[in-house]
Amino acid sequence: MFGSARPFEHDGIAFGCDYNPEQWAPDVWDEDIALMIEAGVDLVAINIFGWAHLEPREGEYDFQALDDIIGRLDAAGIRVNLGTGTASPPAWLVRAHPEILPMAEDGTRRYFGGRQSWCPSSPVFREAAVRLAAAVADRYGDHPAVALWHVSNEIGCHNALCYCDESAASFRRWLREKYGDLDALNRAWGTAFWSQAYSAWDEIGTPRLTPATRNPGQMLDFHRFSSDELLSYYRAEADALRSRSAVPVTTNFMVTAHIDDMDYWSWADDMDVVANDHYLDGRLDDPEAELAFAADLTRGLASGGPWILMEHSTGAVNWQPLNKPKSAGGILRNSLTHVARGADGVCFFQWRASVQGSEKFHSAMLPHAGTDTAVWREVVQLGDVIERLGEVAGSRVDAQTALIFSWESWWATQNESRPSSAFGYLEQVHAAYSALHALGLTVDIVAPGADLSRYRLVIVPGLHLVRAEEAAVLTDWIAAGGTGLVTFFSGTVDEHDRVWTGGYTGPFREALGIHVEEFAPVEPGVPVQLSNGATAHLWSERSRVTTADVEASFVDGPSAGRPAVTRNTWGRGAAWYLATLPAAADYRALVARLARDAGVRAPAVAHGDGAFELVRRRGTDASYLFIVNHGSEPLLVECAGTELITGASVAACAEVPGGAVRIIREEAAR
Ligand code: GAL
Repeated sequence: MFGSARPFEHDGIAFGCDYNPEQWAPDVWDEDIALMIEAGVDLVAINIFGWAHLEPREGEYDFQALDDIIGRLDAAGIRVNLGTGTASPPAWLVRAHPEILPMAEDGTRRYFGGRQSWCPSSPVFREAAVRLAAAVADRYGDHPAVALWHVSNEIGCHNALCYCDESAASFRRWLREKYGDLDALNRAWGTAFWSQAYSAWDEIGTPRLTPATRNPGQMLDFHRFSSDELLSYYRAEADALRSRSAVPVTTNFMVTAHIDDMDYWSWADDMDVVANDHYLDGRLDDPEAELAFAADLTRGLASGGPWILMEHSTGAVNWQPLNKPKSAGGILRNSLTHVARGADGVCFFQWRASVQGSEKFHSAMLPHAGTDTAVWREVVQLGDVIERLGEVAGSRVDAQTALIFSWESWWATQNESRPSSAFGYLEQVHAAYSALHALGLTVDIVAPGADLSRYRLVIVPGLHLVRAEEAAVLTDWIAAGGTGLVTFFSGTVDEHDRVWTGGYTGPFREALGIHVEEFAPVEPGVPVQLSNGATAHLWSERSRVTTADVEASFVDGPSAGRPAVTRNTWGRGAAWYLATLPAAADYRALVARLARDAGVRAPAVAHGDGAFELVRRRGTDASYLFIVNHGSEPLLVECAGTELITGASVAACAEVPGGAVRIIREEAAR
């Protein structure tokens, strides 16, 4: 079903979990498996943190418990998503080789006793981990229950940036490969500044903390290097698996609001199936919109094809300041939102709630309180719904709008010295996405430079770092008739974090028809008014139009009288520019206007007051309209077909109760 040389084949939509049987005595395992069957679980990730059990002493393997658990799952017809067991090194390895411990930017080590205490550049760690992965593959590589390889776990979650000497040596190798000679590196990093010029490769280190702010070019390359280093680590394990087993290989990404260290655009091609972990983040203004964004971005990484939600939660996590359970129906709404946005597998962390260890207060499918709980009942209900949605697997999400997203821009925007620390890259992206989301428009998230030809509307929020050729893809697409919206701080620097001169927005400037002379960030909490009645925040700039029309200007604030929203006719298309961050309702109004102009429509017409999501997945014989009602009142949606959860036929209008999800099979592919 997935478009790789080693497709992950599954009957319908996979439903599963992380399972850590090593935390329990074997007499619990049979009960676990019986309950898994009751819940409809058919894909279970095991051996994620197995190393210390599998290899209790160097070179001494003990597969007995793993044989046993795989055998029991197999006998129950449950497929295995088999971890290589390398996510966390065992104590004996760290004791024998303390140099594998990662180093923080202040030069201090991070020790054993948590997890992931390894340096991504450590050859000792890599060799030991690949040896274990190979041993696991030798033993289980053609076991009929093994459906998927799960390399390590959330690679780079805690150890992405290591500043140790081993990492420095590897960073230098990476830099030599990239730049060839020191002159090129000195130019790229702008080391003429502050006497930073390098005259020998050995002078270059990882960007440990310095008395003043650090070189932004070095920081940017260090991010790129660190992402590449972890990818090469993944490849080393994946190669060991692929040479021993025909089973597809993946690892779980963290496309989420608080992790930015891996440039997954460069990782995606190495996955036989893209998989993501996502947890609702109660610290955000609109966690559900962020969930939708993460799901859309994961689909983008899967080139629009199906992907697997490898982890999410049934309730509270344990790592936010305040860890909230989900509201009634929340498990279904969240899970099915992922499915609506292309997931062909829905799995949880974890099966049975731990009673010891750091995650004992993390929710699970089977809570501490047991099966007589709302969470368990909802899990069983979800399993039943997932079963009914089998025919949806393999269908593809339909979108007329794209949003350009870039990890490099994320890194470059967050540099230590910038015009305002009051906002980050992701806030800009989320604000734009939320406007589209609130309008019920489906969005594909694409990389800079991606083909845009299938879209009508493209939004480019804060694309700070852009290469000329990437900008040209957008401006050429606009010239050919597209409607594009570029927002402030876009096109500010090139790939070396060097400012595009001649007026900000650099390679977008001519198409936008504006000349931005000066940034004028606005105090947090102080609104600025626009001439069209809108309110905005955080940013303004001093610019003039060259060929664009001013749609709204700043009434007050540091750029009073200057353009805030502009529209330029560029070829056969329209190039819009937004020089500030409008309040949510005003952002929505602007995007609604652009969508209208571009002829973009929501997947269906809905009538109701609360928040909702509408997404259409298109299959070969039918399409599937997902309706997620986040509100408490019924929602009416104009559509016709068969509702897959209730089996009801819908003639012209589906009524979706408050908090419910409905999926309509529309017979004639629309
Ligand atoms: C993920 C991780 C799991 C578990 C979970 C808790 O980061 O892969 O092992 O820790 O978070 O939310």
